[in-house]
Amino acid sequence: MHRRRMADKASRAGERYTAPEILDYVNRVHVPHDAGLARAFAVPDGIPAIQVGPSDGKLLQLLLRLANARKVVEVGTLIGYSAILMARALPANGRLWTIEFEPRHAEVARANLAAAGVADRVSVIVGAGRDVLPTLDHEGPFDAVFIDADKVNYDFYGQWAIDHLRQGGLVLGDNAYLFGELMENTDRGRAMRAFHELVATRCESVCAPTPDGLVVGIKR
Ligand code: DHB
Ligand code: MG
Repeated sequence: MHRRRMADKASRAGERYTAPEILDYVNRVHVPHDAGLARAFAVPDGIPAIQVGPSDGKLLQLLLRLANARKVVEVGTLIGYSAILMARALPANGRLWTIEFEPRHAEVARANLAAAGVADRVSVIVGAGRDVLPTLDHEGPFDAVFIDADKVNYDFYGQWAIDHLRQGGLVLGDNAYLFGELMENTDRGRAMRAFHELVATRCESVCAPTPDGLVVGIKR
């Protein structure tokens, strides 16, 4: 049942106990979905169900709380599940700018954010991260940047984050194991490794062992 997959064979640390019924239980206990979250977690047909898991999303929310985040940028909205969780971490005068490449996803996200009661705190911007991020320069410095978009551009997004975060601000990156392909010599493998190395150089950092790997860095 449990496969041992740790890199350090001398330690039991890293063994996984994440049977589905255990994950369902902890998600139910710690991340109960109200109607707004349930709606944004239920991805409609024709849109990929690639949103963060409930525990990953709640972790983002708690990290933003710990950082007293008021101004946050997300790259990769999908239909707004992580945006709702993060927006709910913000004070009344806070703002989340979230960037989505697919207009249809952004339209569903806007409806979900409104249904969840956070539309006043969130701006959904349609476009490619590489084009949209520079238009947000003047809103900074930011308290946190969450990167969850096209993996081949993680190095660009990470550099933008480092350049526009305040000292002590958070850089967060989903899918940091690159679906098991992190060590491959592909464009996105190189980009994701460059992201890891940039964050490690400029931040106090870790790749938290969520199912997909979540980079967490505190800018020095
Ligand atoms: C994919 C993207 C994601 O951000 C994710 O969390 C899972 C899968 C994808 O592009 O397949
Ligand atoms: Mg992701």
